[in-house]
Amino acid sequence: MDNIFRDGILKGRVAFVTGGGTGITGGVARAMAKAGANVALVSRNIEHLEPAAKAINDARAGGSGEALAIAADVRNPEDVEKAVAAAAERFGKIDIVVNGAAGNFLVPAETLSPNGFGTVVDIDLKGTFNVCRAAFAQLKEHQGQILNISATLHYGGTAMQLHVSAAKAGVDALTRNLAVEWGRYGIRVNGIAPGPIEDTEGMKRLVPEPVKEKLRKNIPLGRFGRISDIEKAAVFLCSDAANFINGAILIVDGGQWLLGSRLG
Ligand code: COA
Repeated sequence: MDNIFRDGILKGRVAFVTGGGTGITGGVARAMAKAGANVALVSRNIEHLEPAAKAINDARAGGSGEALAIAADVRNPEDVEKAVAAAAERFGKIDIVVNGAAGNFLVPAETLSPNGFGTVVDIDLKGTFNVCRAAFAQLKEHQGQILNISATLHYGGTAMQLHVSAAKAGVDALTRNLAVEWGRYGIRVNGIAPGPIEDTEGMKRLVPEPVKEKLRKNIPLGRFGRISDIEKAAVFLCSDAANFINGAILIVDGGQWLLGSRLG
């Protein structure tokens, strides 16, 4: 991400970023480190995390933050509690939580198994809850922020994405409810709903080539999103520039959702 913010805008902050090894949240973790925050990268796959943490640490310059890789499955509340404790011990606190860990595959609703539906809800929705719950004491003590990454899939209906749409709708509900309940502690809870983001594994794997062009034509700004678009929105929402923004779900999709264009 080009540095479009004041240097060190997140200096002194500590971010706990799930799914922080790859994709959108991998970018968010890098951007937060560049903005001065120390970042804990958390996901199931330590083999994704360690190179991502190393890349952040190797690129450290000036006021950049440090990265730490912590393996934890967000579906497992005990794993999550241990990961939160490890991050707080290493960096002294946690005052930003980014929930980006997610699972996705394309499947028609009629052949989606109960376990397939449940697995995605477990990762995206229950995982987000597990992390918010485990980090609450830290966030309360340090007046921190939560940033939940959802989607625009559930604004309409999206074929082959019943499980993900249901899970992400739940994530948006969680964002709004926690904003109401935890605002009194000075904890801001916001979300970002990305549209199709071009440079992600999900886009390569989930959107067939012929559909891609059709989708792109229906984006008012005329291009797909990029991970850097989400990075900028994330740094903004977690910075003091957004200190009266609470319960917002910022749609970062070039205006696509307004036209209702979906994979179906
Ligand atoms: N189509 C239909 N069902 C699928 C599926 C697919 N492509 N992939 C997984 N499932 C179902 C499985 O069949 C299983 O249900 P079953 O027991 O009834 O057969 C259930 O989901 C759990 O699958 P499993 O592979 O055991 O789960 P997992 O915990 O190892 O991994 C995911 C689940 C979602 C993380 C896995 O699909 C994955 O690794 N995806 C790639 C990473 C990813 O999605 N990143 C996000 C990019 S947007």
